[in-house]
Amino acid sequence: MKLTLVAGARPNFIKIAPIIRAIEKSNLQGSNIQYRLVHTGQHYDDALSLSFFKDLNIPEPNINLGAGSGSQSEQTASIMVAFERELVSHSPNAVVVVGDVNSTLACSIVAKKLCIDVVHIEAGIRSGDRSMPEEINRLVTDSISDHFFTTTREAGSNLIKAGISEKKIHFVGNTMIDSLIQSKDRFSPPSVTKLYNLKKGKYIVLTLHRPANVDSIEKLQEVINSITKGAMPTPIVFPVHPRTKKNLKAIKLIPELVTTDPMRYLEFMYLIKHSKGVVTDSGGIQEETTYLGIPCLTLRNTTERPETVSVGTNELIGSLPEKIAEFVKKLVSGEWKKGRIPELWDGKTSDRIIAKLLELY
Ligand code: UD1
Repeated sequence: MKLTLVAGARPNFIKIAPIIRAIEKSNLQGSNIQYRLVHTGQHYDDALSLSFFKDLNIPEPNINLGAGSGSQSEQTASIMVAFERELVSHSPNAVVVVGDVNSTLACSIVAKKLCIDVVHIEAGIRSGDRSMPEEINRLVTDSISDHFFTTTREAGSNLIKAGISEKKIHFVGNTMIDSLIQSKDRFSPPSVTKLYNLKKGKYIVLTLHRPANVDSIEKLQEVINSITKGAMPTPIVFPVHPRTKKNLKAIKLIPELVTTDPMRYLEFMYLIKHSKGVVTDSGGIQEETTYLGIPCLTLRNTTERPETVSVGTNELIGSLPEKIAEFVKKLVSGEWKKGRIPELWDGKTSDRIIAKLLELY
């Protein structure tokens, strides 16, 4: 079996790493799986890319398409042009795409137009919010994929509602949680913990990178003010995504808010694991906190990961200032639901995916 594995942005690297490990394990047991790892270049800073390859022991990509940043269409288009060349010169049985970033969408379209099967990992999740580029990426990718690997039963139901045949849907669990489980013994404290004398369970972690929260200085200031108001005097550690950095420079910050560069995977996971709770607008962090049993407050009106709310430790509260302050206060007080780990988030998802792919191709 010949596969082309696509990864382009930070969360993709976390999802693809255990799949590569599962391929290598399967080959040691006698399978013959050949793969090419394609990095689209959507994320290119060392902090968002190379450091993840190192921390997650991902082999060097066979090719980096060097797509880089740009508008939604510019980025998608440059990935498509370069990926078409790649696929024409190295044609696999299937292209494996993960998640919902622009690289996922771009590479699925190219593969399908070359009549190559598309396998989507983390298929079927839906927020219902079509103003988010990720939702469009999910809808389009799932409308042309040939096989669908899902993290929850609900994701499978979404696909069935969209007319996908049940035979093509494989409920396997969550590869992001595979990565977490495989690396949990290597989590290591970031320098900020020592520098600011942060005690376990006595600080909160903040991440913000959604355009709706960070692309306007006024909105970003309002969100940050509400969080700090609710958290005082608890320290907040805020690793800043490059997208957020520009506008953050124009904002008044208080000393309790400690900003840092984006963190490496193993350090960020340490930081979350030992925090009192996390305030975020990320997708993947909702899942990681649910697995770790850490309180999570999501500053969005919708989530494509509803199980993190119904089963896990996540609360979805939108971005109204009073509500943010109220919930951050609650989070800091320690009054929070306990949560459970969703079905099949057991560290064996990638093995299940590879076993199924070997049946299929
Ligand atoms: C992308 C994904 C988002 C994911 C996030 C994780 C899409 C539509 N969005 O958002 O789902 O949660 O990755 O980080 O695919 N930049 C750098 N260095 C880099 C990469 C980006 O400085 O290595 C800056 C650039 O100014 C760029 C901006 O960040 O324009 C946004 O990058 P982009 O890849 O378009 O989207 P993200 O916001 O990172």
